[in-house]
Amino acid sequence: MTSPASVKQRPLAGASVGIPPRNIQFAHQYYSKRRYPIADNAFASSFIAVLSGIFPPGERFFVESVRHFRDQITDPVLKAQVSGFIGQEALHGREHERLNAIFSDMGIRVDFAEKGVGMGLAILARFSPEQQLACTIFMEHFTAIFGESFLQHRQFRDACEPESLKLWTWHALEELEHKSVAYDVYTQVSNSWRLKLQAGPLVVAAILPGILASLVAILAHDNQLQKRHIKSHLKGAAMLFGKHGLLKHVPRRIPDFFKKGFHPSQDDTTALEQQWRETLFGKQGLLSEQLSTPTLQ
Ligand SMILES: [Fe+2]
Ligand SMILES: [Fe+2]
Repeated sequence: MTSPASVKQRPLAGASVGIPPRNIQFAHQYYSKRRYPIADNAFASSFIAVLSGIFPPGERFFVESVRHFRDQITDPVLKAQVSGFIGQEALHGREHERLNAIFSDMGIRVDFAEKGVGMGLAILARFSPEQQLACTIFMEHFTAIFGESFLQHRQFRDACEPESLKLWTWHALEELEHKSVAYDVYTQVSNSWRLKLQAGPLVVAAILPGILASLVAILAHDNQLQKRHIKSHLKGAAMLFGKHGLLKHVPRRIPDFFKKGFHPSQDDTTALEQQWRETLFGKQGLLSEQLSTPTLQ
């Protein structure tokens, strides 16, 4: 008979290649329900809520675009990495859905983001599977930059609501752990330079309007589009896009994707990943308990 302990220890395929899907159900019930959980700032908090809103449909798109080519992968290591990638992304989507349900209960219209970006993804889904995968590797490049910035930006993390911070930190770490997988699949099944070049403008045209429109709609719904809010919004925008903001590296690093010879692993984040694996899942890790009792709710 198989004991529960031996079930827990059995390595998943992804785990054997450093991409373990960690089945954590975050204790969202302890979310503080501060309306603006990032530094009490409406703009920054709404932007982060938009990101949470777009992750479930986004992660489904990523998973499907990689899964389409799964059977063409023969290399056992890449096969295992694909398995880990799919498992991690599926769990990210699930936990963001649970967090989004909290936002919805609070009257924060994350569904605007989900629908807006969902429409953009539906447009991308009309392109060839190869083009969709090229779009995925472009968006994974963004999530890797975002993940790295999030883990490095102490000041922004300190401004976050503590319960949801755990989710964002877990997600950021795993984005780094699997950042090369979709890219390596693309290299094997297509590697078209043209499709890669097209992915950038396609993603921007299909996804950015939904992000911006839903951000404005969420702020409008919260009655936050009055003149007197401008100063606070500028402060929030600086927290995200300013000289010392969370996303300050994005404009500089996005173009790397289009350079000849680019590979996600060229930005070496192994030490950062190791540091955060220890912080989250080490002996005294912040999430060790949730990890060992995955049915916690
Ligand atoms: Fe993810
Ligand atoms: Fe990802």
